[in-house]
Amino acid sequence: MIIDGKQAAADLRKTLTLQVAQLKKDKGTVPGLTVVLVGEDPASEVYVRNKIKQTRDVGMISNEIKLPHDTSQIQLLAELQQLNSDDAVHGILVQLPLPNHIDESVIIAAIAPHKDVDGFHAMNSGRLLNGEPGALVPCTPQGCIILAKQHLGEDLSGLHAVVIGRSNIVGKPVALLLLQENCTVTIAHSRTKNLAGICQQADILIAAVGRANFVQASWVKPGATVIDVGINHIENESGKAKLVGDVDFANVAPVCGAITPVPGGVGPMTIACLLKNTLIAASTNG
Ligand code: GUN
Repeated sequence: MIIDGKQAAADLRKTLTLQVAQLKKDKGTVPGLTVVLVGEDPASEVYVRNKIKQTRDVGMISNEIKLPHDTSQIQLLAELQQLNSDDAVHGILVQLPLPNHIDESVIIAAIAPHKDVDGFHAMNSGRLLNGEPGALVPCTPQGCIILAKQHLGEDLSGLHAVVIGRSNIVGKPVALLLLQENCTVTIAHSRTKNLAGICQQADILIAAVGRANFVQASWVKPGATVIDVGINHIENESGKAKLVGDVDFANVAPVCGAITPVPGGVGPMTIACLLKNTLIAASTNG
């Protein structure tokens, strides 16, 4: 089975559209998301354009702040201070990566935690770690869980989940969400010994390593649910640009029970979950 992330994202946006309208009716609040983009990275510009369009499509207010590449850290901090104190702005997203002269951790720490719709601030990651309510949870990990449940149903308890990758954006938070779902969780990474053997034990295999076609069919337990977070740009045999995941899809698909494709799997869910977080932020602090 191929898990259709495009459809799941469209379904979630439909629900959010209704909830946004209801919030406006009940409280007069229209959720507002501001995206801050520093520099001219072409991939970031595409992501930001998609975010803005989808934010407006569900009835929210979307603003973009575009700053030149040579913006100083102090200037960016001043922008954030203004957004933090603007009551019409419920969610703030600073598009990553930032230029090298800006320290990402300083910027993330400067976003008001209740507006941190990426869920990257230590207050939110700490709440997630402690299982405390009120955390804004990172978007891609949320998308992974929703897609795994599409195939496995709501109850994931007792399943062995193997996460390949330990980033703050995906690997660590998705492992915590799986633990919350009562999975047995293994986090594997570039230094893991016998990676193939560990992956073979996985009922749920989440690949977030950033290496094209890395996960092989022989690593996958028959019937496993495979969630591919990778977005890798490669050239195909004829030299044309192609987008592939971290999983060798053609060979893994016949072995596993379900798999998310790239594109059209986890990717669309990330933005849908960003909108969900913006709605949560607006409902809590509108
Ligand atoms: N760049 C690529 N993905 C993301 C994301 O989820 N959030 C932010 N802020 N930047 C990104």
